[in-house]
Amino acid sequence: MLRIRQRVDADISTVVGWIADADALNMFTGPRLVWPLTIDQLAAMTATDAVSAWVMIDDRADVIGHFDLALDEGTARIGRVIVDPSRRGRGYGSALVRLAIEEARALGARALTLNVVADNAPAIATYERAGFQQLPMSDRPDVRTMALTL
Ligand SMILES: CC(C)(COP(=O)(O)OP(=O)(O)OC[C@H]1O[C@@H](n2cnc3c(N)ncnc32)[C@H](O)[C@@H]1OP(=O)(O)O)[C@@H](O)C(=O)NCCC(=O)NCCS
Repeated sequence: MLRIRQRVDADISTVVGWIADADALNMFTGPRLVWPLTIDQLAAMTATDAVSAWVMIDDRADVIGHFDLALDEGTARIGRVIVDPSRRGRGYGSALVRLAIEEARALGARALTLNVVADNAPAIATYERAGFQQLPMSDRPDVRTMALTL
């Protein structure tokens, strides 16, 4: 069974190891960081009380995926979504998003939003499958904002 637990420091290097190149970093965090991603950079992105970072683990306690949730009043934002590259295309991304939705509800959020790079077809498909809808285009054509009412 898949479940989530709070990320611990040792998980950060696992996730950093999944980012193979600049394109992968752009899909993961958007354009704000320059490759290579460091452990300190990823830790810093979630270093406020309003943000909680999570990993999804399997029965063997292997870390399969990662995400974080930033809570702002009634709205949570999901970020840093990633599945271990060697395990993609097997339903783990959809499972991770479902667990993230449950956690956002448990944190008291009434809506969940996210930004995704516009040409990231696997991610957009994963979010749409979970019920997210694309919001009208903003002033940034390279980014899509998606939202789900909880
Ligand atoms: C996005 C990501 C988490 C999806 O994880 P995954 O385990 O491969 O996803 P799943 O196997 O659960 O597939 C989920 C949906 O995405 C679709 N999908 C998966 N890979 C795809 C691809 N390469 N192209 C198009 N659609 C794809 C699947 O078909 C599935 O939709 P369906 O059930 O309607 O067929 C994974 O590709 C990833 O980690 N990407 C790199 C990081 C990233 O881009 N993060 C998003 C930040 S916003």
